[in-house]
Amino acid sequence: ESYDLGGHDTYMHKEIAEQADAVDRVLAGRIDDRFATVHLGGLNLDPREARAVRRVKILGCGTSYHAGLIGAQMIEELARIPADAEPASEFRYRNAVVDPDTLYIAVSQSGETYDALAAVQELKRKGARVLGVINVVGSAIAREADGGVYVHAGPEVCVVSTKCFTNTVVAFGLLALHLGRIRDLSVKDGKRIIDGLRRLPGQIAEILKQEPEIEKLAKSYADAHSMLFIGRVRGYPVALEASLKLKEVSYIHAEAYPASELKHGPLALIEPAMPTVAIVPEDDLLEKNRAAMEEIKARSGRILAVAHQEQEKADHTIVVPKNEDELDPILMGIPLQLLAYHTALALGRDIDKPRNLAKSVTVE
Ligand code: AGP
Repeated sequence: ESYDLGGHDTYMHKEIAEQADAVDRVLAGRIDDRFATVHLGGLNLDPREARAVRRVKILGCGTSYHAGLIGAQMIEELARIPADAEPASEFRYRNAVVDPDTLYIAVSQSGETYDALAAVQELKRKGARVLGVINVVGSAIAREADGGVYVHAGPEVCVVSTKCFTNTVVAFGLLALHLGRIRDLSVKDGKRIIDGLRRLPGQIAEILKQEPEIEKLAKSYADAHSMLFIGRVRGYPVALEASLKLKEVSYIHAEAYPASELKHGPLALIEPAMPTVAIVPEDDLLEKNRAAMEEIKARSGRILAVAHQEQEKADHTIVVPKNEDELDPILMGIPLQLLAYHTALALGRDIDKPRNLAKSVTVE
């Protein structure tokens, strides 16, 4: 992949469009069908060490933190290791207890984000084992880490991260599968996840074909002053990331909330001028998500759902292809990247260089 716009008007559009190929690259040469696992050459974590890990703590900033939230859920689900993610910028200032049985993972597109680098250096100073999930090969965090997984998204020029987010989440899927197969994930489940990973590029291409409809939807929501994004468990980090995308590129205020928390406050915001984007995967929480949409409808809120089937309670549904439950978050954010892009375009924003932002934040 090159730095050329290749016929696109903006890098953001180009990078969204490249995602099927980018995911092909993060998978390439890593799948081992015989043992229903993956090979991650640079991980530097042997099976005995992997079995001894008691906790996983993932650190990153912005979009990379959101990718880490999905990664933590994948690691818990597939490897059954307690895992969580925290903004690196918070972690480094709170004198965190550094535990020798915890595996720390730093996530960064650029590998140069100062807060993430400082967190890694502090961890290393205290003797922790730190892996990197990084895009830029040989970057500062990649050099500082004990090992890790490169996400191979290719160069990302737009300040607003899209393809790198997707590839990072896929890289976490690989890592979770790898750790799972060293621990208790069955061959059958390993194969199920591998089949799901292989379906991703084709499914991404299908989603990208819906761009003309998403463009129309973006135009119809572009007059909103504020938007709410909701999701539950697997859908919540997708909501967080989608709301960040909309904020960064369109300057529309957006807030993400767990759908389960609606009744604890945000329902007060609902009125016709405050649209909600609901992430509604077809998993065991489907009925709960439908109930949340009903609550919003009962208060005359407009709803745009991202779901695996048309949602009766929503005003509009973007239907995305179903994958395995654990991998669904990878796909559900992609139409919302296009929504943010077309909203920003409709509002005449500077898409590749939003005001006040830099591609890598290399200062405190
Ligand atoms: C993404 O759209 C943002 N521009 C921003 O949140 C970014 O993800 C963050 O600054 C972290 O950057 P990194 O991945 O290069 O460390």
